[in-house]
Amino acid sequence: MRILSGIQPSGTLHLGNYFGMMRPAIELQKQGEAFYFIADLHALTTVQDAGELSENINNVAIDFLACGLDPRKSCFFRQSQVPTVTELAWILSTLTPMGLLERCHSYKDKTAKGISPSHGLFAYPVLMAADILIYDSDLVPVGKDQKQHIEVARDLVIKFNETYGPTLKLPEPSIREDTAAVPGLDGEKMSKSYGNTIGLFEEEAAMRKKIMSLKTDSTPVEHPKETKDSTILGLYKLVASPADYAQMETDFRTGGLGYGDFKKRLFGAIWEYFAPLRERRQEILSDPGYVEMVLRDGREKANRVAEDVMSRVRSAVGL
Ligand code: TRP
Repeated sequence: MRILSGIQPSGTLHLGNYFGMMRPAIELQKQGEAFYFIADLHALTTVQDAGELSENINNVAIDFLACGLDPRKSCFFRQSQVPTVTELAWILSTLTPMGLLERCHSYKDKTAKGISPSHGLFAYPVLMAADILIYDSDLVPVGKDQKQHIEVARDLVIKFNETYGPTLKLPEPSIREDTAAVPGLDGEKMSKSYGNTIGLFEEEAAMRKKIMSLKTDSTPVEHPKETKDSTILGLYKLVASPADYAQMETDFRTGGLGYGDFKKRLFGAIWEYFAPLRERRQEILSDPGYVEMVLRDGREKANRVAEDVMSRVRSAVGL
């Protein structure tokens, strides 16, 4: 089984990225042949500063490896280093109905947030389909927000195969409902564009400060607290043991403890949860050349697979 996913280097990775996509992807490494890549071509739709983009690419590579991506099990590479993916994207775009892209909510959401409505942003799902289809992927672990994009890829497979005969493989999404929604500092979905994120590898003092500033209601200390839709509990559930989580829930209901206490407990749990990852990150940072070597190997392997699929596609369409 081939598993594939990508992550955009559009900023610092945060808990939403980790629980939504990275951790599920890392867990799946054992179950098949994984291909994970840094979607640097996609990031060009939002990051238009060369220095910033290359720094982000480097940081995502380091952070993903620190989080447990194992290059002995998974092929890890940069999207832009497999140039055939843009060739496939073009071929797919000639089969993509305008209406299909017009229905995609990510384009509407992004332009509503002030991102400039470029052709690249509009055609984003076509490049993403090419990313998936060029590796004959079976399973695509993503966060909930990417589900519609996988549906576009599936529609394009059907359209392509109807037009040119059976050529492309139909991928399935893999979405973990339990961690699909990670609340941000304001209680909305954690997202870079909402400015409500907690970075995976933030400095201790900065992270503590952020958590202590989580938005809460004004229930007095001695009163029971609302557990439903609590951001503190929502985040704590991701990092605490089931027993510790149950305890905090009970303490919410009992009253007598203030939100400050709960936030301290939450910070402690997050800090501890990521301790081994921080350690691994330090090791990676102290080994110059390691990340580059991993990405070079990944590039070679990814290109081999992509070339095979592209020859099939070229001959199917008559090129
Ligand atoms: N659009 C994805 C995101 O923003 C990143 C991505 C690009 C991706 N190509 C992909 C994810 C292919 C899965 C498969 O999170």
